[in-house]
Amino acid sequence: MTIRLDKLIASATVFTRSQAKAAIRKGKVKVNGETLTKSSQHIDEDAHVEYMGVTVTRPQLRYLMFNKPAGMVCANSDEQHPTVFDKLFLPRMDVLHVAGRLDIDTTGLVLITDDGQWQHRITSPKHAHQKIYKVDLAREITDKQIGILENGVQLKDEKDRCKPATVEKLAEKQIRLTIQEGKYHQVKRMLAAVGNHVTRLHREQIAHIKLDPDLEEGQWRGLTDKEIKL
Ligand code: URA
Repeated sequence: MTIRLDKLIASATVFTRSQAKAAIRKGKVKVNGETLTKSSQHIDEDAHVEYMGVTVTRPQLRYLMFNKPAGMVCANSDEQHPTVFDKLFLPRMDVLHVAGRLDIDTTGLVLITDDGQWQHRITSPKHAHQKIYKVDLAREITDKQIGILENGVQLKDEKDRCKPATVEKLAEKQIRLTIQEGKYHQVKRMLAAVGNHVTRLHREQIAHIKLDPDLEEGQWRGLTDKEIKL
């Protein structure tokens, strides 16, 4: 794999991208012993890089899955509630972020990373990755409600209808719902819009990444290379 030289310098030092560009332009950066002055040049990710004679190593990017219990918020800090980060005990926690938040009362799969591009790819509506939820309901789900969800339900205060969802009826008051968007309180609003009400919500999957059944609530593990690949 290759990476742009200015991007590598910025991710491995305290330099901003423009400071990294300036350092490269001024001839302060060597790659495998050779001074390179073009920021846009792509170099091998494993190349030996030096800034003013000091070896620069890029920190390994981190990708985790966390089994979120109810009562925890998906924020880096919160004055009133425990956050998902309270369970991690990792260095440089300030650069880790949640890719696709859950509400405080929602349980299940949360992805956490310090790779901003990956975070963007997994959450951006453009990529439309599927999210799968197990949803407990206050009332029996009707065929009519399923039909509306599968055709694309209109949410209050939204201009466009939701994209068609997939609904699997698991029990009278329980469904598995697959959606491609991640609007604010989306699942709860979708069910409210068809006249039902969510009593429990649990995320099982995002894109091809499934919540590991061996993870107890409050536990996490690193993603495998296969899971990271989007
Ligand atoms: N939709 C919701 O309404 N809440 C969540 O936590 C996730 C999806």
